[in-house]
Amino acid sequence: MRRKLIVGNWKMNGSLSHLEDFIDEVKLHLHPDVDAGLALPYTLISALKLISKNLEFLVAAQNMHELDSGAYTGEVSSDMIQEAGANAVILGHSERRAYYGETDEAVNLKLKKALEKSLLPIVCVGESLEEREEGRHEEKVEGQVVKALKGLSAGDMDKVVVAYEPIWAIGTGKTASGEDAEAMCAFIRGVVEQLFGPEAEKVRILYGGSVKPSNIVELMNKENIDGALVGGASLKASDFIALINF
Ligand code: PGA
Repeated sequence: MRRKLIVGNWKMNGSLSHLEDFIDEVKLHLHPDVDAGLALPYTLISALKLISKNLEFLVAAQNMHELDSGAYTGEVSSDMIQEAGANAVILGHSERRAYYGETDEAVNLKLKKALEKSLLPIVCVGESLEEREEGRHEEKVEGQVVKALKGLSAGDMDKVVVAYEPIWAIGTGKTASGEDAEAMCAFIRGVVEQLFGPEAEKVRILYGGSVKPSNIVELMNKENIDGALVGGASLKASDFIALINF
């Protein structure tokens, strides 16, 4: 059985005081059957680790560099996020792909590095509105999944999380319907199965894109949707509590 996983992605939002208030509220409402966590700006990771030290809570970064060290001004390595307290990392978010030129090849290198360091990678894939309208969404997502997972083995599949996030649904208020989200998550599992066989059953596949308390139940009832990656609605403790207690 794949455990459900709900991860809030604060993007470039939040502050120390907001985080402290947030965890104060959320810690009373964690659900024993649902894995929960936050992907935070680097500067808040060690604070989250400290505040959540007695909780089962995923502490994630939103990115990392694929190399261990070097002359890469402004970058942060896997060892650095781990030392700060992270046990997971988002890789290849569409905003990083769009604004910072992150390529499938870079995502693949980062994914391998995360696995080497025993960080839980949450690899984001998803099509643009144009690609969906032209019927190229499966082709796009298949390409991203195949390139991201290149060089991994079947035994890695229980250590990898894939997040299907259609770009047109991110921050727009437009959620994919439960059926469309399930269809794409099932499609992704099929792609993983072609690559790694039955171990594909172990990959957790999240849906992301305007997830909120009003649509979480429909999404979580789908067979191939194992959780959610949540942006906007993860900033408010009461919404996040509703999400992890769907
Ligand atoms: P959203 O963002 O929930 O605000 O649409 C999701 C994401 O980018 O991970």
